[in-house]
Amino acid sequence: MDLPFAESWKIKMIEPIRKSARIEREQWLKEAHYNVFQLKAEHVYIDLITDSGTGAMSDRQWASLMIGDESYAGATSFFKMKETINKITGFKYVLPTHQGRAAENVLFSCLVKAGDYIPGNSQFDTTKGHIESRKAFAIDCTIDEALDTQLELPFKGNVDIRKLEKILIEHNEKIPFIIITVTNNTAGGQPVSMQNLREVNKLAKKYNKPVLFDSARFAENAYFIKKREKDYADKTIKEICREMFTYADGMTMSAKKDAIVNMGGFIATNIEEWYEQAKVKGIIFEGYITYGGMNGRDMNALAVGLDENTEFENLETRIKQIEYLASRLDEFEIPYQRPAGGHAIFIDAPKVLINVPKEEFPAQTLTVELYLEAGIRGCEIGYILADRDPVTRENRFGCNDFLRLAIPRRTYTNNHMDVVAVALKNVFDRRNSITRGMSIEWEAEVMRHFTVKLKRL
Ligand SMILES: Cc1ncc(COP(=O)(O)O)c(C=O)c1O
Repeated sequence: MDLPFAESWKIKMIEPIRKSARIEREQWLKEAHYNVFQLKAEHVYIDLITDSGTGAMSDRQWASLMIGDESYAGATSFFKMKETINKITGFKYVLPTHQGRAAENVLFSCLVKAGDYIPGNSQFDTTKGHIESRKAFAIDCTIDEALDTQLELPFKGNVDIRKLEKILIEHNEKIPFIIITVTNNTAGGQPVSMQNLREVNKLAKKYNKPVLFDSARFAENAYFIKKREKDYADKTIKEICREMFTYADGMTMSAKKDAIVNMGGFIATNIEEWYEQAKVKGIIFEGYITYGGMNGRDMNALAVGLDENTEFENLETRIKQIEYLASRLDEFEIPYQRPAGGHAIFIDAPKVLINVPKEEFPAQTLTVELYLEAGIRGCEIGYILADRDPVTRENRFGCNDFLRLAIPRRTYTNNHMDVVAVALKNVFDRRNSITRGMSIEWEAEVMRHFTVKLKRL
């Protein structure tokens, strides 16, 4: 008999979590204006708001913290981190930043001007925020199939090459770079194939445009390439990563995801001019070029985390947990973006709450219902997060409206996944009685989802 699958690690340290009563949760949520970002974490039982900075570090990472070099300039920790990034990505210039959006801020300050167009595959909200706040336009060229949550495709995060070429022709002079997000978070943690990365690169060369990867989950993307793409089954994750990055000129990285640290990020590139410009902005916004907002110890942990998380066993353990939660939801026939993504399950909220109109934000309503049901915190990746159109100021309803259940790395067990699945089933069973959603009482101009105040209708 074959042995069953089990995690490629064992647990050395634990952190208690607490349950609460529904009556308490009702009060806390009211005080939070029905925005789960405004809840106190201690009022959450299972926290799936994000997989960013919430992973459990390994013993080697914790050990590396103790030998961090906190020198202001030229710390050995920086050079260790740089060497690891050079090896994994092939990029020679490395600039640390305190997290992913800081890398976007530094680089986009150099590259993005008002009136520019930045095409890509479902730019993440901070990426879109850094583009739109500079009065430029983020153009989504993701394949249309990504919108159909029930369609099973291996690489639903792909760029539609025809859409991309159309934009390159129409706005050629105004395109400073193309940005590809691996994996495609907003479309459901869906991977981009090597074939697609190659095609984007070829097109970019034809139009003489650089390609930037938003690489937060590049290792998970490499795992899917190994599992799903012809010719990659026998390659190591590190070999696949090296090839992926040959199709880019640079990357921004939120190390809080695939480097499994609580805080950190960087820019890496082979374009000397980008690096020289970014250095100046980096010093203004982040700090000197060999720490950029990070502690020496954190750069050490980042280096170890990147190295460990570009190994197959670690990624397999992680992604099998997402698949496990998906299999439990399949039992209850709860609709989500199929196939399950790399870091999260994305529940198709309008298919669950069929009586809640889009103007009343079904995914946000489902997020609230799940928290009330069992103290589980997911988050809306949908119509509220999509912000308003910068020109018309209308809500943007053209995207999917998801409740995202992001699974922190190495943090929860499959027993927790069972609790999540059953809590969601309980909400699903009473879905027809949920007829009203949310209205917005106050919102910020960009990235409104973090601070929006809502009313329950
Ligand atoms: C795809 C993607 N890009 C960029 C970011 C921004 O990174 P950070 O939260 O470290 O600023 C995130 C964060 O969730 C992300 O998922």
